[in-house]
Parts: sequence; C-alpha cells; structure tokens
Amino acid sequence: MTTYTIFGRGNMATAIAGILTNAGATVEHIGSADSDTATINGDVIVLAVPYPAVESIIETHKEAFAGKTVIDITNPLNFETFDSLVVPTGSSAAAEIQAKLPSSRVLKAFNTNFAATLASGTVGDIVTTVLVAGDDAEAKSALIADVNAGGVDALDAGSLKRAHELEAVGFLQLTLAGSEKIGWTGGFGLVK
Ligand SMILES: NC(=O)c1ccc[n+]([C@@H]2O[C@H](COP(=O)([O-])OP(=O)(O)OC[C@H]3O[C@@H](n4cnc5c(N)ncnc54)[C@H](OP(=O)(O)O)[C@@H]3O)[C@@H](O)[C@H]2O)c1
Repeated sequence: MTTYTIFGRGNMATAIAGILTNAGATVEHIGSADSDTATINGDVIVLAVPYPAVESIIETHKEAFAGKTVIDITNPLNFETFDSLVVPTGSSAAAEIQAKLPSSRVLKAFNTNFAATLASGTVGDIVTTVLVAGDDAEAKSALIADVNAGGVDALDAGSLKRAHELEAVGFLQLTLAGSEKIGWTGGFGLVK
C-alpha cells in the first residue's frame, strides 16, 4: 500500500488522513515544528498547509520530493482582501508548484471540498466528490483509487491546467462561506 506524508496537522490534513487511512494507506504527518528537519518517508506528499508555507517546504525538501507525487490542496487566496488569488493571472498554485518541482508529479486535489465534507463523506444529501487535476495519468488514478477506497467519490478533472478552474471554484466557495451565504459543512456537490 501507498505511504502518504502529509505536511500539516490541521482540519484538512486530518480529514484527508481519515480517508486515506480508511483506504488502508499508511499516513504520517509533518507539522510546522518538524517541517525543516523531517525525513520524507512517503511515496506521495500532501501539502495540507496554507499556500504561503509551501515555498519554504519546497526549498527544504525539493530533492526528497523528486520522483514522487506531490498533492497541492491549497486555495491561494489573498486573505487581506478576500477578493483575489495571489498566483499570477491565468496560472494556479499547482502550476507554480510544478514549475518549482519539475521532477515531481504535481496533482491538484481536495481544494474544492471543505474539510467537514471530507470527514462526513457528504455534501448535503450527496456523496462528496474530490476533483483531481494533473498531467500524470498514473499518479491521478492512484489517488482516485485511494480516495474511492476511503469512502468518498473522486473524479479526474483533467490536466494540471484545470487547477486554474479548480482554484476558481475553491475561491468562490470560500467567499460564499466567508460571507455566511453557505455553511462550512456545505459547498458545491457533484451530480453525475
Ligand atoms: N479548511 C478547509 O475546509 C479547506 C478546504 C479546501 C482547501 N483548504 C486548504 O487546505 C490548506 C490547509 O487548510 P486547513 O484548513 O487544514 O488549515 P489549518 O487547520 O489551519 O491547518 C494548517 C496546518 O498547516 C501547518 N503548517 C503551517 N506551516 C507548515 C509548515 N511549514 N510545515 C508543516 N506544517 C505547516 C499548521 O501547523 P501549525 O499549527 O503547527 O502551524 C497546521 O497544522 C490551506 O492551503 C487551505 O487553503 C482548506
């Protein structure tokens, strides 16, 4: 089975770890205190940290991430204005991360799901769907298989270019919850 190394011990890290553990995967966490010194044991890395923390994690662990799948779950909002993303127009956090990690297989996933809907497995009355974008078909299907085995749906949303759209969806969902038009246990669901 796959071993996942999850950076972060917060809401998303815990919810994602729950799904992967249900799937039978081994999960280890690295917190901010041990981020600089930790050894990376996982075959797959999950960056379950705020986007501004990603840069230093990459700087420290770039070589250890080479040849591995790196999952970006961030919503790179400008939290001062709550009105834009901090990545260049037309780009995405995932694309920026892939450019810094050319020897890794970067996937975008989980950013359109609130943590509570990953933990409960539902959005309203429907099963939570994790949208996954990336350029490496094998890495994508391995993650999709583990998420499905962990009890929620997962869908291939296309190439890493689609991370731009996934981040737009995540941004919109956050602004709806931030302005209390929807709850943090709600959000977008997918009906096939
Ligand atoms: N919450 C959601 O529903 C949701 C939904 C979609 C996407 N996201 C995205 O998921 C990411 C995590 O959000 P969250 O809600 O889980 O945040 P959170 O509960 O605040 O947890 C963030 C975690 O990141 C850790 N961290 C910060 N810098 C780190 C570093 N350099 N190395 C290792 N760990 C570090 C923090 O550790 P310390 O506490 O020790 O600093 C904390 O455990 C964000 O990028 C967010 O945009 C969140």
